[in-house]
Amino acid sequence: MNLSDLQKQLLVLLSDGNFHSGRELAEILSSTRAVIWKQIKGFKRLGIDVAAISGKGYRLPYPMELLDETCITRNLAHEVKALLSILHIHYEIDSTSNYLINDATATSGTVCLAEFQTAGRGRAGRDWISPFGTNIYLSLLWRFESGVASISGLSLAIGVAVMRALNRYRVAGIGLKWPNDIFYNDRKLGGILVEVRGDILGPCTVVVGLGLNGQVPSGAGSLISQPWVDLEQILGSARPERNVLVAQLLNEIFPIISKFDEIGIEAYLPEWRDWDCMAGREVSLTLGSQKIRGRVEGIDDQGMIILQTGIESRQSFASGEVSLHIDRPHEPIA
Ligand code: BTN
Repeated sequence: MNLSDLQKQLLVLLSDGNFHSGRELAEILSSTRAVIWKQIKGFKRLGIDVAAISGKGYRLPYPMELLDETCITRNLAHEVKALLSILHIHYEIDSTSNYLINDATATSGTVCLAEFQTAGRGRAGRDWISPFGTNIYLSLLWRFESGVASISGLSLAIGVAVMRALNRYRVAGIGLKWPNDIFYNDRKLGGILVEVRGDILGPCTVVVGLGLNGQVPSGAGSLISQPWVDLEQILGSARPERNVLVAQLLNEIFPIISKFDEIGIEAYLPEWRDWDCMAGREVSLTLGSQKIRGRVEGIDDQGMIILQTGIESRQSFASGEVSLHIDRPHEPIA
């Protein structure tokens, strides 16, 4: 069941985070107080706990900056506007990446954003918890003529693009965890999922999916299975506006993806290495049912992770899940 038009209008009115009486909302939306109440009750399904206080009215748990196409496109660089094919913005969708994967007619440069995902997907078959209205769920489709081999390492280059966008805010402690995580002081701030359909040699289609935590509500946070952090905790009131950040991310991702089959990963390796927050650390790499322990030596020229697994033994791995060996448990951020 999707959000009704009335619910969308209500969310816009309530997005300022202030109290609005049922009477006021009914008047503006040419409805009745009973209908407004019924619609607001429906927000529970999205994980939005609306405060309903008699004498005051309704209030969202926090102000929400809803996604806004005009604001996003206004902040796009000139050359990125030319590369953007269509920008789809959904209030609710199963997964922005699924949406693009299933769109056989989508052309390179199609972008899908959503306020809420009912079946957000992460790497290794994990769910991506996607609460309403506060984080970024962004997918971008690109078609390459040259085959899967020519885009090897693309997901690392997308990590560099995300870091370039976030680096405007000069956050100490932010970095990349191989292969595709955005990390802040050993907690996950975001993740990238690159999915490829097509031929080893022939044309292929890539959907890049990015999830970035802006302000994770506590209810949703308790569902995330690994230590996490959001921009609100890191930057507080200096947190960028969501629409502006979406545009800044696209401004960095488009120039990289649109030329990746010509340029390749080499050009991005030095920057990736500068942002590597695992280098020198003791980790376990899970590869299927195998667990390999070692010290991270960085990434090689193909973007594989290098582990020192013994006194004289080094091994490179193309895939796997890296988890840190930390002796003490994570303490909550104050
Ligand atoms: C990871 O596990 O670290 C990757 C997470 C990728 C999540 C994003 S949110 C937008 C896009 N849609 C999805 O269903 N997944 C990706």
